[in-house]
Amino acid sequence: MISLLSRKPKVPVAPNHDSPTESSVSPLAPDPAVAMPHQPAAQIPRQATSKPPGSSPKPSSQKASSAQAQIPPLPAPPIIALSHVSKTYANGAPALLDINLTLHKGDFLFITGPSGAGKSTLLKLLNGQEQPTAGTILINGQPIGHLQGNRLAMLRRRIGVVFQDYKLIPRRTVAENVAFVLHAQGYSRKEIDRRLPVTLKMVGLENKADRFPSQLSGGEQQRASIARAVVGTPPLLLADEPTGNLDSDNARQVINILRKLNSIGITVIVTTHNEQMVRSLTYPVVQIRNHRLYDVRYQ
Ligand SMILES: Nc1ncnc2c1ncn2[C@@H]1O[C@H](COP(=O)(O)OP(=O)(O)O)[C@@H](O)[C@H]1O
Ligand SMILES: [Mg+2]
Repeated sequence: MISLLSRKPKVPVAPNHDSPTESSVSPLAPDPAVAMPHQPAAQIPRQATSKPPGSSPKPSSQKASSAQAQIPPLPAPPIIALSHVSKTYANGAPALLDINLTLHKGDFLFITGPSGAGKSTLLKLLNGQEQPTAGTILINGQPIGHLQGNRLAMLRRRIGVVFQDYKLIPRRTVAENVAFVLHAQGYSRKEIDRRLPVTLKMVGLENKADRFPSQLSGGEQQRASIARAVVGTPPLLLADEPTGNLDSDNARQVINILRKLNSIGITVIVTTHNEQMVRSLTYPVVQIRNHRLYDVRYQ
């Protein structure tokens, strides 16, 4: 079984995002108070709020707090846990076979592998765009294999997705493309105005907010699409061949933005063909070959 629990990449360590004040510090840091699919807030595993069953909700005495101190906090569940997951499309085409994969909050994972191996399918299973034909997928401890309707919509809101071909709306400006997501999710004008400039600055597009996609380079379009993916502060970001259409300089910029997002606590999965880039970094890498997942390297 592949697990990414034990080793961390040699990059700036993600800070503890369980602080209740975090979202007021950075609008881009994932909001720990927002659970992924329909997880009641009380069940969100957070060190600060973990208590033994039956304990007083407001322990005030010295005795109560020292008793608490002896009980270690519950560990957070993995953000992603796939167990014996297979996917065969309706036409009989096998896409994934017996995939086991565990990621924790703050992990960064590269997925490589030849075309047709199943990389995109794996990301589609993770954001509920496709359903597995066998096995279980847990996100934050919740099964997502067959979510529908509102529950699926809630899951998708908490996962940012970046595509090789950007998928920006051509007749909308960069700012409108990014703000559109927040409008759709019911954010207030005030909150949109707060998040937009921070997010555009993070991807280096603060001076191109009023451009249309056709007025941007490929690298800029991809950075706009990253801004759109993260403006809602998802805890998880899936990037499917985000550098596939870019030259090496732009590819590096895009990867560095993904690394920066990871350093503020966002869990990032990137599929790529770019072996050279993967080798130049020190993140965990898995490969999908013939629809099966192989551990290439752990740091
Ligand atoms: N919607 C679909 N319907 C039928 N077969 C599909 C569909 N999407 C992908 N496949 C097939 O599943 C396999 C894996 O595809 P994909 O996940 O796109 O691979 P990769 O992203 O690694 O190139 C391929 O054989 C592909 O033809
Ligand atoms: Mg693909």
